[in-house]
Amino acid sequence: MGLNVLIIGATSAIATEVARIYAGQGAHLFLLARNEEKLHSLTGELGSTVMGYEAGDLNDFEQNEGRVERALMALGSVDVALVAHGFLGDQIRSENEFDHALEILNTNLSSAVSLLIPLANHFESQNRGHLGVITSVAGERGRPRNYTYGAAKGGLTRYLQGLRSRLYATDVHILNIKLGPADTPMTADHDKNILFGEKTKVAQSIVNALTGRKHVVYLKGAWNPIMAIVRNLPEFIFQRFGFLSGR
Ligand SMILES: NC(=O)c1ccc[n+]([C@@H]2O[C@H](COP(=O)([O-])OP(=O)(O)OC[C@H]3O[C@@H](n4cnc5c(N)ncnc54)[C@H](OP(=O)(O)O)[C@@H]3O)[C@@H](O)[C@H]2O)c1
Repeated sequence: MGLNVLIIGATSAIATEVARIYAGQGAHLFLLARNEEKLHSLTGELGSTVMGYEAGDLNDFEQNEGRVERALMALGSVDVALVAHGFLGDQIRSENEFDHALEILNTNLSSAVSLLIPLANHFESQNRGHLGVITSVAGERGRPRNYTYGAAKGGLTRYLQGLRSRLYATDVHILNIKLGPADTPMTADHDKNILFGEKTKVAQSIVNALTGRKHVVYLKGAWNPIMAIVRNLPEFIFQRFGFLSGR
């Protein structure tokens, strides 16, 4: 019997690769995403492994409980759920236009919380399941190049920490996937370096981690020690390193 898997933000470059891996394993999938055209093409590609799908803007918060309920109905129960959508936005714009800052905060934090409430309650009631959320290394320390996005992902990290503690005595596994830069449309205009993740490898690591035992994974793994340094550097030293504290 394949796993029942719900993927939210399924047309993200990374989530699409995750969906392909699960489909190859014979899982039953329910896919939620905003981009209708990409969603139709993905469900067409994955064929009968897709038990259902729905398109919609996840910043329509009031719709999200119903979306999760319909996914649960279609799958029967969920073994694995992945929350993958996100929005980097334009940092400088977010420093000047509150509406843009709010869109970044809503997409990366509020919409995720509106989905995690019904998902976590479902997992708690069935006393099992793996719930993974993609956050970001940007959430580890506020830096000029992405602190609005980082604030949202950092807030989401704290939310997941609390959720994990709430459900610790159950068999529900809460996984925070702290992603470093990866080569996807989100970073299309960024200079690439050796620390950039490749989407198929990142996706395979996500699938492995989702049913593994860890609560937090860094992808690539090299970000784990790097972020320990970034997190813990005293402010007066941090500010001297322009590649960390600059734009
Ligand atoms: N790539 C990186 O360097 C990197 C680094 C750290 C963390 N992450 C995180 O990794 C996850 C996957 O991103 P990715 O790299 O695969 O980038 P991506 O291909 O650009 O995917 C982002 C996805 O989020 C969706 N999305 C944005 N706003 C939405 C909304 N209001 N409602 C519904 N869907 C919405 C987009 O939908 P549309 O197709 O409709 O625009 C898109 O499918 C995200 O959570 C991202 O924050 C990425």
